[in-house]
Amino acid sequence: MKRVAIVGSQWGDEGKGKVVNYFSKNYEWIVRYSGGANAGHTIYIDGKKYVNHLLPSITPNGYSKGFLGAGMVIDLEQLINELKILEADFPGISSKIYIDYETFLVLPWHKEEDELRESMRKKPIGTTKKGIGPAYTDKVSREGIKLYNIFDEKLLKERLSEIYYLKNKIYSGKIKSTDKDVFEYLLKVKRDLDKLNVNFASAVKMGDVFRSTSVLFEGAQGVLLDLDFGTYPFVTSGSTMAHGVSSVGFSTFELDKVMGVLKAYTTRVGSGPFPTELFDETGGKIAKLGNEFGATTGRPRRVGWLDLPALRYAKIRSGLNEFVITKADVLDGFDEVKICIKYDVEGKIKEIPDSSYDFYKAKPIYETLKGWKSTNDVNFLKYMAFIEEFTGVKINYISYGPKTEEMCTKNNMIMRIKG
Ligand code: GDP
Ligand code: IMO
Ligand code: MG
Repeated sequence: MKRVAIVGSQWGDEGKGKVVNYFSKNYEWIVRYSGGANAGHTIYIDGKKYVNHLLPSITPNGYSKGFLGAGMVIDLEQLINELKILEADFPGISSKIYIDYETFLVLPWHKEEDELRESMRKKPIGTTKKGIGPAYTDKVSREGIKLYNIFDEKLLKERLSEIYYLKNKIYSGKIKSTDKDVFEYLLKVKRDLDKLNVNFASAVKMGDVFRSTSVLFEGAQGVLLDLDFGTYPFVTSGSTMAHGVSSVGFSTFELDKVMGVLKAYTTRVGSGPFPTELFDETGGKIAKLGNEFGATTGRPRRVGWLDLPALRYAKIRSGLNEFVITKADVLDGFDEVKICIKYDVEGKIKEIPDSSYDFYKAKPIYETLKGWKSTNDVNFLKYMAFIEEFTGVKINYISYGPKTEEMCTKNNMIMRIKG
């Protein structure tokens, strides 16, 4: 497979980082194409834990290189922090990282705006406060700074002063960072990036390079957090789906496949509808066993049973061709597990929501399956067969622990179980 996208099939935190890291050794380029430091992708390298917020989940001592595409909103200070952590263990790693000149920058005032807006909302979204919404808003309303602006100090100063003039009016002087502060901040981060030897690149020029080799696209968040198709307004502001690869100049027709990462149960951080959410002891037990705390904010994740109508919706919306199932080991030892097969939406039975609006009204209808002692148990095979039958998507890989190597093909697992 030369060009594959790996996306989250639920509300994020499915284990995309781990899965991308597992496959990264087979690809020359690992490309992040959307979102920003709201993402938190956990990987283990030589047994040590790293959390990537902006960096693609490459294996630092492997041969792949990382690309940050134009659909992202990048907090350069955060990127530098992540690079410094990796540099300490893998000197020279930064020279394997390339950033598209067209990427949009998250500036200190975007984080202030995120805080302010959340505090003023009647119903807060529960954002990560990483400035994502305000940055994408500025991008669309054409009030922002792209990476290439930092190479032209005169123009940068002018642009920042124009933007600040407007922001100061809109927020009635509540924004503390001034255009001068942001200018100084950008000069400093540019110096730091130069010291680290990060590459700045044009996706236009890279087009031929990408097409001549293997590329793995690393999605951020999950389909149900997508700006267009997720549970609006409780969504993020970027494209969380495979379509997002267009921001690196690719069409989805150029993808060999789209892999959906699927957690064996469901989690969500922040506000918004969640039909299979558990409020009982079982939910607490799954959250504890799964260590369900946000990798970016540390907030407890809401937990619920697996939701097949939501998965069918994700499959159609993002054109998922196969699944990788993660974290089924968390449910090891449960006598039984529930799985939502249909929704009751105001008296109408639906196997798939018609629009994201249905998620607000859906009452889950469950089927109960036997639990498994370990993922090497035939009952786990039955659980996977059930998911495959109800979604029409094959599960081809199984992740059974946080470490990169804790992963196998389903065929291997079947051989192990059936002997
Ligand atoms: P991402 O945002 O989709 O990359 O996922 P996160 O890193 O935010 O959250 C997934 C969490 O589950 C991380 O702590 C991973 O180390 C962990 N994890 C990933 N796959 C597995 C798995 O198969 N089993 C277990 N027990 N943990 C896993
Ligand atoms: P990864 O890539 C889980 C959620 C936030 C909030 C909503 C909007 O690690 O799966 P934002 O800061 O983006 O404006 O917040 O989206 N959210 C995530 N939830 N995993 C993520 O990323 C998320 N990125 C954003 O909690 O509900
Ligand atoms: Mg995460």
